[in-house]
Amino acid sequence: PAPDQLVIAIDGPSGSGKSSVSRAVARALGVGFLDTGSMYRALTWWCLEQGTDLSDVAAVAQASRDLPLQIGTDPDAPTTAVGGHNVDAAIRESRISEAVSQVATNLDVRADMLQRQRALIADTAARTGGVVAEGRDITTVVAPDADVRVLLTASEEARLARRSKELHGDAGSASVEATRAQVVQRDARDSTVSQFTVAADGVTTVDTSDLDFDQSVAAVLDVVAARGERV
Ligand code: DC
Repeated sequence: PAPDQLVIAIDGPSGSGKSSVSRAVARALGVGFLDTGSMYRALTWWCLEQGTDLSDVAAVAQASRDLPLQIGTDPDAPTTAVGGHNVDAAIRESRISEAVSQVATNLDVRADMLQRQRALIADTAARTGGVVAEGRDITTVVAPDADVRVLLTASEEARLARRSKELHGDAGSASVEATRAQVVQRDARDSTVSQFTVAADGVTTVDTSDLDFDQSVAAVLDVVAARGERV
């Protein structure tokens, strides 16, 4: 991206509020938004659709290279489509959440997604003057030269309560326990390929455990402002 374009990289674990916060930050700054998790989810959806065995590393890597993926980066209406078919709802289904780590830990898939993500970041920044890209390895691998790099974290307790509300509509103890198995295991699997629980050098940690949504957005915008960038 050109020097006048603002690239903001945000990483974090499940339930840190990463997606919704990143989207709101992009909206506030008037720049594009890229949810890289949706790309791994779309590939997972496509593999299941085609009957590709997720444990067949070479077949999944080939599927990644062939994936006719279209990503819309408008923060007001981000979209994910495969071969012209919108998959925004389908990729949030639990069958995808349960299977996606197997795809996201495939190193050949990550190499392909890296190229796609860098191209999307460059295109989006060129069109809208900037981009907020969020995921697990954006601050470290995809955009280590980003103008602003943030690790959004929250205590396990806070993350589980949030995910529990999303998945089950409440944060009662039964729902939190059901969520724990899913979320903690997935983060453990994903952390074998990217380090997203400890901030890398030069990455600012924003802990949202005690912040509500608006406060979390404001905290990230503060980091952006502190870098001397336009807000
Ligand atoms: O953020 P999410 O739940 O939509 O992410 C979906 C999966 O993709 C999750 O298992 C982590 C993985 N992922 C990744 O490995 N690297 C990224 N940059 C983004 C997501």
